Amino acid sequence: MLDTRPRRTFAVISHPDAGKSTITEALALHARAINEAGAVHGKGDRKATVSDWMAMEKARGISITSAALQFEYRDHVVNLVDTPGHSDFSEDTYRVLSAVDSAVMLVDAGKGLEPQTLKLFRVCALRGIPVITVINKWDRPGLSPLELMDMIERQIKLRPTPLTWPVGEAGDFRGVLDRRTGEFIKYTRTAGGATIAPEKRMASDEVSEADRLVWDNAVEEHGLLELDEADHDQARFLAGETTPVMFASALQNFGVAQLLDLLLELAPAPGPTEGVDGTVREPDDDFSAFVFKVQSGMNSAHRDRLAYARIVSGEFERGMVVTHASTGRPFATKFAQTVFGRETTSVENAYPGDIIGLVNANALRVGDTIFTGPKIEYAGVPSFAPEHFMTVSAGDIGRFKQFRKGIEQLDQEGVVQVLRSDLRGDQNPVLAAVGPLQFEVVEDRMVNEFNSPVRFARLDYKVARLTDAEGAEALKGMRGCEVLQRSDGTHVVLFADSWRANATARDNPSITLEALPAGGA
Ligand code: G4P
Repeated sequence: MLDTRPRRTFAVISHPDAGKSTITEALALHARAINEAGAVHGKGDRKATVSDWMAMEKARGISITSAALQFEYRDHVVNLVDTPGHSDFSEDTYRVLSAVDSAVMLVDAGKGLEPQTLKLFRVCALRGIPVITVINKWDRPGLSPLELMDMIERQIKLRPTPLTWPVGEAGDFRGVLDRRTGEFIKYTRTAGGATIAPEKRMASDEVSEADRLVWDNAVEEHGLLELDEADHDQARFLAGETTPVMFASALQNFGVAQLLDLLLELAPAPGPTEGVDGTVREPDDDFSAFVFKVQSGMNSAHRDRLAYARIVSGEFERGMVVTHASTGRPFATKFAQTVFGRETTSVENAYPGDIIGLVNANALRVGDTIFTGPKIEYAGVPSFAPEHFMTVSAGDIGRFKQFRKGIEQLDQEGVVQVLRSDLRGDQNPVLAAVGPLQFEVVEDRMVNEFNSPVRFARLDYKVARLTDAEGAEALKGMRGCEVLQRSDGTHVVLFADSWRANATARDNPSITLEALPAGGA
């Protein structure tokens, strides 16, 4: 049966530690609690949705994997796509952002805009993703709200349009002024941060004496914002010119309900998408989807390989046979799952905006399109500029077969870029990473999953440029650079520094040397 409920597909992004995991779980539990007739969940339940599955992630306390969490809220289906938190994995975050229609940016009220915050805002701008900004941790001392607005405007060049305004300074969070109704939404602290923090809406004249001073202050600042025309404008928000702002404490569940309501009200629904040849698929056309992440090892018992695909158009039915755009071959979708952390559920049907995990998808790579009906192919997910380079070889030459298989698999998943050349041969490929932590993931997985210890040797390169076949030919043998090839056929030229890359470009104006977007923190 066709599921016509509207969808919202978004990601929560932030600098590490701003509260992404906390708010993700609060959103999910809040929605679930609402749907389960108002049951209140305490903090103990949060443990159930912890999204880490690799032992290494646990040890480091960071989330390396990405998956999607789906829940219902007020007759909508909400898809929350999880993003990795560590800056080394910004390439992964970038890919995830190709699968969402909007993003929620968390800013730590005490720290303001941090390096990763700025970078993520830039990535959203580049991809045209509208951003809702949440100033989190308002229960703790922090910057003044006007100062934070000023930072967003100056450093990100996005106009902040607060929808709520805090009543009480950071550290003394009484509630918020709903700037569109003028009401006071008063919060009450609950023990242990239960899922639904009690909220009470009241008109200005109902505000108690105890809250009067801070309320008047909020009203005054709201007036300043009005004078400054910092009010929400849906068209400008969708065009990426403004960012609606709200204030919250994820830990205490303050503002979580408002965020969900805002997502339903303001965030865009899945829309038409253009293919590389300019043809456009509307959400109700034939089925199409693109793969934005490939992952294996979710379940060490059967080592499944999952390709996460975002549905662009049409209805997905389990078992349907689709066409793999890059090979033209049929792909049978025997099983599909929704996955979040350890919880997997088999999917029978899915719709535009939904994320499906396709099982046994050995042929699918990041950026690939699958479809039914007339051919469509979506632009691949662009990659960031690698800045760290190592050669890798099998630590145990007797396990070369496992080594080759593992490296190929990690390459296809996009864990790291694998570069090869005739000169280096298959036994000694070059690994290129945006951040050094990617090498640790390679080492960990090669040992634990592929049973092949590896040896790394550092290479003295810092800069990569892309070239074409002619450029690769011309540059081969030239001093100060090395020409290699990615498994998708792209020619990559490595230089010791950007000075040398620029000099080579200057001395050889006919050779194409293209830079990739910077990804490092
Ligand atoms: P991340 O995924 O963005 O990296 O952040 P995470 O949710 O793990 O939160 C980082 C820390 O900030 C956690 O504290 C978390 O409890 C705290 N935190 C998140 N939201 C709020 C908030 O609204 N107010 C306050 N005061 N703290 C918040 P921790 O000590 O590292 O972990 P834990 O022991 O509390 O779990």
